[in-house]
Amino acid sequence: MIEPKTILISGATGLVGQPLCEALQARGHTVRQLSRGANGDFKWDVSAGQLDPASMQDVDVVIHLAGESVAQRWTAAAKARILLSRVDGTKLLVDAILQQAKRPAFIAASGISYYGIIRPDSLEESAASGDGFLAEVTRQWEGAAQPLSDAGVRVAFLRTGIVLSRQGGALAKMLLPFKLGLGGRIGSGQQLMSWISLPDLVAAYVFAVENKAVDGPINAVAPSPVSNQEFTKTLGCVVGRPTIFPLPRAIVKALFGEMGKETVLSDLGVLPKRLTQLGFEWQTPSLAATLRQTIYQD
Ligand SMILES: NC(=O)c1ccc[n+]([C@@H]2O[C@H](COP(=O)([O-])OP(=O)(O)OC[C@H]3O[C@@H](n4cnc5c(N)ncnc54)[C@H](OP(=O)(O)O)[C@@H]3O)[C@@H](O)[C@H]2O)c1
Repeated sequence: MIEPKTILISGATGLVGQPLCEALQARGHTVRQLSRGANGDFKWDVSAGQLDPASMQDVDVVIHLAGESVAQRWTAAAKARILLSRVDGTKLLVDAILQQAKRPAFIAASGISYYGIIRPDSLEESAASGDGFLAEVTRQWEGAAQPLSDAGVRVAFLRTGIVLSRQGGALAKMLLPFKLGLGGRIGSGQQLMSWISLPDLVAAYVFAVENKAVDGPINAVAPSPVSNQEFTKTLGCVVGRPTIFPLPRAIVKALFGEMGKETVLSDLGVLPKRLTQLGFEWQTPSLAATLRQTIYQD
């Protein structure tokens, strides 16, 4: 029997948040959405340091997904928004949690960029953090929750890989060129992509909500990373098109700048050691099955 919980979710309107709210509600949990806009149940304003105190009342778990999109040109202003929306958002939630008589658990998004940019070795959760702007963002994002860990509150960070969805993210951008037969490997194609299907990521959050043993950093990725070359070939097969138009590294850099270097061209071989140990079961561990399901069924 699942114990029903009351869950406050920031960023509930986003790519991950929307199906997560549905999945939690379908399992009998009560979801409260915390949003900057009028769509949520409760409002907050991260830059003004404002959070409706009623949002925290009798909450069992806080899930923090909110953050400025990383998929944009990284001007100085954009970088500040990417960093501060996550770090200041975490601080605001952490302060509010610490004021509660019964402190809710804190489950937050993070990214595999914690490990850096070029790390094709097998990266488990114990691996050290690496280079780059996003690694710095994730260190500060996770670090902002340290007061909760110090106070004995359960804290889990889902270091999320490339989320495969038709609705948004990397796959959504690649789909049209691949369907037109204009797809191809990126750069050398040797770089590893550590990916996860959106339904499996949602299931990992639900798993983290319902299992008190889930704490600390959690690599939220499928069991096997693939090279960009293999990803390209598999996606071409699934959409039934050739993949003969490589996208050279120099073009990626010219189009996307630093963002391209740290995302599209990154080479990270991340392994989900903790999820495996905790007994999490992936619905779609294979890339081909995930792509077929994501493109033609979900
Ligand atoms: N999708 C991926 O591939 C991926 C990979 C690694 C990590 N992650 C992380 O996982 C989390 C959820 O991802 P997602 O793809 O669902 O994100 P998303 O679709 O971009 O949505 C995030 C939500 O954050 C809120 N938000 C946006 N800009 C904000 C700002 N400047 N300040 C405060 N809140 C802001 C918005 O909610 P409101 O408008 O309702 O406030 C938005 O719906 C993010 O933190 C992301 O960095 C995602």
